[in-house]
Amino acid sequence: MPAFGEHFLRAGFCEVAGAAYKPGLMSRILITSALPYINGVKHLGNLAGSMLPADVYARFQRARGAEVLYICATDEHGTPAELAAAEAGQDVRAYCDEQHAIQKTIGDAFGLSWDWFGRSSNPPNHRLTQHFCEALEKNGLIEERTDRMIYSLDDKRFLPDRYVEGTCPHCAWPKARGDQCDNCGRLLDPMDLKDPYSTVSGSRNLEVRETRHLYLLQSKLAERIRAWVDSKAEFPALTRSIAYKHLDEGLIDRGITRDLAWGIPVTQDGAPRPGFEEKVFYVWFDAPIEYIGATVEWAEATGAAWERWWRTDQGAADVRYVEFMGKDNVAFHTVSFPATLLGSEEPWKTVDVLKSFNWLNWYGGKFSTSGKRGVFMDTALELLPADYWRWYLTANAPESADSPFTWEQFQATVNSDLANVLGNFVNRILKFAEVRFEGVVPAGGTPGALEEKLFADVGRGIEALTASLDAMTIRKAAQDLRELWVVGNGYLTEAAPWTAIKTDPERAAMIVRTGLNLVALFSRLSAPFIPFTAGAIAGAFEQCPEGWPGADGRVELERLPAGGKLTVPPVLFSKVEDAQVAEWTERFGGAEAEA
Ligand code: MF3
Ligand code: ZN
Repeated sequence: MPAFGEHFLRAGFCEVAGAAYKPGLMSRILITSALPYINGVKHLGNLAGSMLPADVYARFQRARGAEVLYICATDEHGTPAELAAAEAGQDVRAYCDEQHAIQKTIGDAFGLSWDWFGRSSNPPNHRLTQHFCEALEKNGLIEERTDRMIYSLDDKRFLPDRYVEGTCPHCAWPKARGDQCDNCGRLLDPMDLKDPYSTVSGSRNLEVRETRHLYLLQSKLAERIRAWVDSKAEFPALTRSIAYKHLDEGLIDRGITRDLAWGIPVTQDGAPRPGFEEKVFYVWFDAPIEYIGATVEWAEATGAAWERWWRTDQGAADVRYVEFMGKDNVAFHTVSFPATLLGSEEPWKTVDVLKSFNWLNWYGGKFSTSGKRGVFMDTALELLPADYWRWYLTANAPESADSPFTWEQFQATVNSDLANVLGNFVNRILKFAEVRFEGVVPAGGTPGALEEKLFADVGRGIEALTASLDAMTIRKAAQDLRELWVVGNGYLTEAAPWTAIKTDPERAAMIVRTGLNLVALFSRLSAPFIPFTAGAIAGAFEQCPEGWPGADGRVELERLPAGGKLTVPPVLFSKVEDAQVAEWTERFGGAEAEA
């Protein structure tokens, strides 16, 4: 098989010089969020635990001047994609084309600032996945084994465990799944079911057949992977505990091919692998490789170089790579994907920080795509603009524990933080400046004791927020930001320019100017969380300072040039009314909808 470089050049890759990069600054940050599965629009829980926090972090780091590459893609292979396509009466490729476009449109509408939103079914992922398997095999880490699996004669396919149902051999429950009985909870082998039938067609015309599959010998890599996890000092507690749990249970060899038609074909020396013509790679083998694949898609589309993000021998050694995902994905990213990368013995960049999240629940229970429980991304945007959701989901990020979504809490968060605190502040001071200072940033006056205290409080607040975002503690970061909004509100109330203007216009001018500076500062600080609103606020000023502020409150609150024109934006946030809560609870189910 060709050496790595050749293989890729032949496949049409070429190296193009990337954007200017200053070595030594550690200013290049690769960000990925777990790839959303293709089978339908994602729910708010998916958004809250991967794509949204990744976006907040990406926006923050860009504002700071880092060179950021935020990569995501749809995860398109596997049985669920085939079945969803069949249910929709579509060819699986056409189904994926359509669903990818839908997810891209909704992601954009939520302000997810992907540099590239790729597809695991695209050619670069095919080439890379086949390459990795061949590299692993060359290193003695792949073995062909014979499995016995259930074959459905009417469906003309092998059935994955959870697509076989039947009577539980332990408790006689008639709808036990091939992998587990939901009635008695026991783990099952599909061969043990009595009266098994296919959930695809209902057919009972099943038989056991032998089939050959490729196994990745993870058992051989166990020590390597443990040492790799040990070396990742920046992994947060949740990530570490999941990784070690799996390592302690012992790594077992894993089948990486499946008897399916839709997926990445299995090759050997670049040609179809004999005996595997009807098989494809297992979706969990190719999906994480698409992080690289999507970067290649981006590079091909933009003329940039992908190697400097992924190959440590070509500049990626000084990339900081951060992954965002829900806790159910952690094992695949701390064990399986590293097994692929390390086992290849090639210089691939591996993750530096793996930020994982608990569940956002729907009331007490789970969001469910199949059960249609909870709010999905498309519907959410029909109810309210993206920033309402972005704020609620970051302020209540399921970080240290699972956290419930409830309409009551959503209403309380939106009304108090966005409408009362931020929205009200921005509107109050801009309106006042418009009416009393002819719609320009007023000159004159000198800061006094109240302002000195404000400068200090704001400086400390910026420092705290910056540190929280750096640490990716999203919920704490939202809290820090909210506290800054509260400080601004408190200042304005205490300084009371509407009173001062009657006796001391100079002082009133200085207070208003300081207030306007707070507004401009809030636009910059809020942008990672609520980018649409931040843009609307920035639009109020003829010249709004940009970039991430430093921690000197005085400097940041004296940036707006006096004389600059102001435009009062329309009301930023409207309150969520009790009637809406009642209507939405009725429409989407709430406490009483708990299964
Ligand atoms: N599609 C998977 C899920 O929804 C996540 C895949 S992450 C990847 O759980 F990196 F493996 F692609
Ligand atoms: Zn049972």
